[in-house]
Amino acid sequence: MYGSQSALNPVGLGADLTLDLTVAMTIGFGIVFVGVMGIVWLAWRRDRPAGRWWVWSGGIVLPIAAILVLMTASTAILVASTRADDRALVIDVTGHQFWWDIVYDPGGIALRDANELVLPAGRAVTLRLRSNDVIHSFWVPSISGKMDMIPGRVNTLTIRPDTPGRYRGQCAEFCGLSHPRMAFEVVVLAPDDFDRWLVETQGEARDAAKPELLDGKQVFIDYGCAACHEIRGVAEGGRLGPDLTRVGGRAALGAGMWRMNQGNLAGWIADVGDMKPGAQMPSYNHLSGPELRAVSAYLASLK
Ligand code: CUA
Repeated sequence: MYGSQSALNPVGLGADLTLDLTVAMTIGFGIVFVGVMGIVWLAWRRDRPAGRWWVWSGGIVLPIAAILVLMTASTAILVASTRADDRALVIDVTGHQFWWDIVYDPGGIALRDANELVLPAGRAVTLRLRSNDVIHSFWVPSISGKMDMIPGRVNTLTIRPDTPGRYRGQCAEFCGLSHPRMAFEVVVLAPDDFDRWLVETQGEARDAAKPELLDGKQVFIDYGCAACHEIRGVAEGGRLGPDLTRVGGRAALGAGMWRMNQGNLAGWIADVGDMKPGAQMPSYNHLSGPELRAVSAYLASLK
């Protein structure tokens, strides 16, 4: 009803609690507002100074009580939504200008991916949030509250999405020219589907079978793309840019910005600065037409 990036459409524990608190606050302070207006009206009608009792109760006791209730409720929500869970799946998410590096189960299979976060429904997931450069902020409004990603620190956020579906996350801290273009897709799968996805995605990249795809793979290698990008089984170790092992299988290109297809991939490679101002990747506008077609077809085939 409210879209895939909305705190009014909660599908996770943290977002549920935050919406409950928001509704309770709106009702509570609505009642306080009406009450205060009533007292103002009374004072105005009776035309005489208020007694001390009103000053003490309405001016000091009531605000302190209201703030204490609010502080207790919001602290309880913060504790509930950041508490570590021993059985939780651990996922490392590192913010970069302007994309997301993701490693599933870093102590175990350590599956690396980027810009699309796949989560199991109904299971606790502990995110270990870091930054590679400046302060970013991890936020999926439908699933949880936001958490800053600070250079030199590891902030943990435990989330539990409840409903399979597609949601959208967005960096919530100004981090440079393309801060508003630093988004990501969140795919919540049923637990069995998630386990299957994790197994299927671990392997090496799909092999380039057609001649054009083989040419594209060669362009990727010849132009040194692997200095920054990893494709498992083809070129490993490049960690400056997003992992591309299953780039064509992601819903979006450029960290949640563009529909993933060969045309947008070609446009991206030829003129990154136009599609994402401030991105660290240089534009490869010196590729020939056939080279650009081949390398974009190859990348689109990696699923
Ligand atoms: Cu990263 Cu804003």
